[in-house]
Amino acid sequence: MKTYKELPSDAGSNIIGQVEAQANRVQKRLASVKHTVAIMSGKGGVGKSSLTANLATALTLQGNTVGVVDADINGPTLAKMMGVRNATLEYTPAGVKPAITALGTKLISMDLLLAEDDAPVIWNAHTQKDAFTWRSAMEVGALREFIGDTEWGTLDYLLLDLPPGTDRLPNVAELIPDLGGVVVVTIPSEVSQFIVKKSVTMARDVLKVPIIGVVENMAFYVCQHCGEKEPLFSSDETLDTAFQQDLLGSVPFDPKLARSSDDGTLYLHEYPDAPASKVLMAVAEKVQAFFQSL
Ligand SMILES: Nc1ncnc2c1ncn2[C@@H]1O[C@H](COP(=O)(O)OP(=O)(O)OP(=O)(O)O)[C@@H](O)[C@H]1O
Ligand SMILES: [Mg+2]
Repeated sequence: MKTYKELPSDAGSNIIGQVEAQANRVQKRLASVKHTVAIMSGKGGVGKSSLTANLATALTLQGNTVGVVDADINGPTLAKMMGVRNATLEYTPAGVKPAITALGTKLISMDLLLAEDDAPVIWNAHTQKDAFTWRSAMEVGALREFIGDTEWGTLDYLLLDLPPGTDRLPNVAELIPDLGGVVVVTIPSEVSQFIVKKSVTMARDVLKVPIIGVVENMAFYVCQHCGEKEPLFSSDETLDTAFQQDLLGSVPFDPKLARSSDDGTLYLHEYPDAPASKVLMAVAEKVQAFFQSL
């Protein structure tokens, strides 16, 4: 198989020119965004998307204008979690208007572009082998379009929900060179922390992206009968001291939070007094404090 370096020309597609034009559009859009925040974890299934949805809602409730990019192109979940799966995107000469949640948070997601509920994202290529090679480049292209072609308006915060994998942040850091910071999500298990540490090293030491802090998700659950906090994972699996220093909050497991995500009702709005809601609101305040202290 030939690599792109061996291709004799761009076959008249002006691919470099197209990418440059898109990159310029990204820079123009980001000029009206005060702070960009990536939510990441090397580990899958730890609650990145739930945290993004709730953090975006919390920041909105605290008086900010907030946009969210569902950067998980192949497994987009945010439109469902934020209750806008049925939104029809409006295309204007200035760009695509994002979906808007019941509380006013703006969202763009691949899910809003797919016609059928069970349609997967398939990157067109002659063979599956080619598709594999191009997937990462195409994912970056799709992200570039999401940011550059969406009519965000003026935003205080633009949050990006990253897919699992240590290698995802470099793509975002390349698209957004002055990325404001990263919120890292882990669960208390040693396995999760083992992987998440690699993501932190990638962000802090390799990409030099500021770490806003760490959120420990599903940290414990509150017994519905006695109100006591009980560990959800083995009680000797405590948060690594490196993570404790940067801890923004420990979010308990709450079945109502999972239900709200499934139903697309906004948990913080429905259960403002739940212990997890209070932690999530406090995490949002700490994110704001991080940027105010700069
Ligand atoms: N604190 C919590 N309490 C209860 N359920 C939760 C909590 N956090 C996340 N969940 C549930 O756990 C599941 C996984 O969460 P989520 O999809 O946010 O993880 P993710 O890290 O984004 O996954 P992926 O790596 O696939 O993108 C979801 O069903 C979600 O509703
Ligand atoms: Mg996710």
